[in-house]
Amino acid sequence: MKPLRGRFRKEVEKKVVEYTASIDFDKRLYKHDIAGSIAHARMLAKQAIISNKEAELIVMALTSIRDEMEQGIFAFSDDLEDVHMNIESRLIEKVGEVGQKLHTARSRNDQIALDMRLYVKEAIYNTIEKLIELQKALLDLAEANKDEIMPGYTHLQRAQPVLFAHHLLAYFEMLRRDVERFHDCRKHADVMPLGSGALAGVPYPIDREFLARELGFSQISENSIDAVSDRDFVIEYQAAASIAMMHLSRLAEELILWSSAEFGFIELDDAYTTGSSLMPQKKNPDVAELARGKTGRVYGNLLAILTTMKALPLSYNRDLQEDKESLFDSVDTLLSTLDVFAGMVRTAKMKGDKTRRATEEGYILATDLADYLVKKGVPFREAHSIVGGLVQHAIENEKSFKELGIDEYKSFSQYFDNDVYSITVDSSVKARNAVGGTAPEQVKRQLARARTIVESV
Ligand code: ARG
Repeated sequence: MKPLRGRFRKEVEKKVVEYTASIDFDKRLYKHDIAGSIAHARMLAKQAIISNKEAELIVMALTSIRDEMEQGIFAFSDDLEDVHMNIESRLIEKVGEVGQKLHTARSRNDQIALDMRLYVKEAIYNTIEKLIELQKALLDLAEANKDEIMPGYTHLQRAQPVLFAHHLLAYFEMLRRDVERFHDCRKHADVMPLGSGALAGVPYPIDREFLARELGFSQISENSIDAVSDRDFVIEYQAAASIAMMHLSRLAEELILWSSAEFGFIELDDAYTTGSSLMPQKKNPDVAELARGKTGRVYGNLLAILTTMKALPLSYNRDLQEDKESLFDSVDTLLSTLDVFAGMVRTAKMKGDKTRRATEEGYILATDLADYLVKKGVPFREAHSIVGGLVQHAIENEKSFKELGIDEYKSFSQYFDNDVYSITVDSSVKARNAVGGTAPEQVKRQLARARTIVESV
């Protein structure tokens, strides 16, 4: 069966067939397409638009077509343009005239809208599952190193000491919002478009609620023109995927930095690193680098679909066929990145001695000295300036805070006393006990809350 040659006098140019065919990539939707057709056939029978016998034949044939596809023995053909025509043509081959009745009260326009919605719902399910796996890996690594201290950074300059677990839990929070974003996206994808026809609806007594129930949708679309025109649920997936990849690329960047000799904060497992073909000593964080790199293509995919949809007149236009490859690419990229990250994080070894040493070098406790003066009644701005002078003095004399004598302290402020020496990295961390801070008590609370979140799903 060649597609739709009824009103044409000529065969389509071969290159036009190739240019317009989508079967190479939309065959990926076969399960969703067949599920939609089975539900549609059952609905047509229930509404006495076709007979029960006819529906049964159609459903049986569709099921065996699905088997052929699963076994890889289905002969896809470019000439049949897309997944819908490939399946329908095989159906007619199998059951003859009865197969020609399946497309009653349906258009490929509402059919593809349905397939895409089913696909996006499934992709969201898988994405959320993998996001949670990575959250668990981060949480396990944080719990296993819950007492370790590292320098916290701003401007990539050592700023204040923090618990390593606190830093990791920041990523947990980002991923938690990613999960929420995908849940929101699911709400919008979870609308059943079948029954919209080409654009105007169909002139048959169909039961759309039945279709929604059969196909696991919680709502039906309210406007047939909107239902065949829009792909905002695809854009939402792409946007949520871009944000998630942005988060992963930040984690990637930190793992790359931390595993360098310059930082030496973590060691990535051999199974998650690669060697150099030239330099025998190299152990490269390629997984993290590729994730950082792949973020670009996911952003590109978002921009591609936004641009395709921009200024597109209602309702269906063939441009919409361009929604697929970029979506599949983002889904594949995000799922594989999440998957490999969970393993990489789970097997990473944190080097607590190194991170602690990094907090003990330099003047990371300067804010704590200022806070010390504030507690003795010095206004914060003045305390800030006093400690600034003290840091300058210490640098010039190549001394750490610990190595400065009490006279040196006192020459900057009379409020300094011997108890200034009890300010340590540990006391600094412990002091930041307001909710959400880095104090062990707060981090313990965060860890427990995080555990409840991943275990409640
Ligand atoms: N391959 C098309 C798509 O992906 C399916 C719908 C085609 N409809 C049409 N009237 N040509 O959007």
